[in-house]
Amino acid sequence: MTIVLTGANRGLGHAILIGLAQSGYDVIACVRNNEKYSEDFASIAKENGVQIHAVECHLDDKESIDACWEEIETLDMDVYGLINCAGIMELKPVLFTSYEDVEQMFRINYFAPFQMCKHMAETVVRRGSGAIVNISSMASMGSQPGGAAYDASKAALNQLTKTLAQELAPFFVRCNAIACGPINTEMFANMGDKEKNKLIKAVALKRAAEPEEIMKTVLFLLSEDSSYITGQILRVDGGAII
Ligand SMILES: NC(=O)c1ccc[n+]([C@@H]2O[C@H](COP(=O)([O-])OP(=O)(O)OC[C@H]3O[C@@H](n4cnc5c(N)ncnc54)[C@H](OP(=O)(O)O)[C@@H]3O)[C@@H](O)[C@H]2O)c1
Repeated sequence: MTIVLTGANRGLGHAILIGLAQSGYDVIACVRNNEKYSEDFASIAKENGVQIHAVECHLDDKESIDACWEEIETLDMDVYGLINCAGIMELKPVLFTSYEDVEQMFRINYFAPFQMCKHMAETVVRRGSGAIVNISSMASMGSQPGGAAYDASKAALNQLTKTLAQELAPFFVRCNAIACGPINTEMFANMGDKEKNKLIKAVALKRAAEPEEIMKTVLFLLSEDSSYITGQILRVDGGAII
């Protein structure tokens, strides 16, 4: 079975890529620069005896997403799952946020997953089974100063997840999201110390997650072990919201 994954080149997406390969899935890795990562992907594929096919995909460009799926159609791989992992994050007060900032946030965190899900829906409805996992954030479930663009884009992703779960259930396709707490990746490292400390303080376990801890939940939501779970926004946030 093949899983389509965005953001596979680094951060959480890279941990998911390794987890998928270790679990025996073939992967279509949608990345901006497919040649740059070919050696890394080839070595993960070889180590685990699976196929990893990198496809160029610029998530801020609908035509690039459509072209990516045209290529996927030619690959003759048994596409079963989609993981929308790639994302961008910036927290800024509304007074300092431009219309264009919000557009860019939504382009990558909402419109791109929407278009990926739309293509995926066509594929898995034909197949008669499948699973979609959207990587959301605990920020989508509360509110904070600075969250007008990022938090709203992830809240929109949650709504897409719930809508798709209902529309695709008749075709035996499940759709869930993970509301992640802070994760030890570049995205978290790039935040200011004050913001990082505030986030960790809000988490009951008082630490950020390792990407592998989120990856295990992704694998669960793809697998038959979660066959009766759909339309859920599953918090994996170290107890940030209890
Ligand atoms: N880290 C956290 O604390 C945290 C917390 C909650 C939720 N999340 C969510 O977890 C997901 C993964 O985040 P991360 O922490 O792994 O972030 P990251 O380390 O910053 O990685 C972001 C990934 O998204 C890709 N990406 C960004 N813009 C893109 C574009 N226009 N086209 C194609 N790919 C693009 C990046 O590719 P390039 O290398 O080409 O830029 C990279 O693979 C995101 O959806 C994020 O919102 C993260």
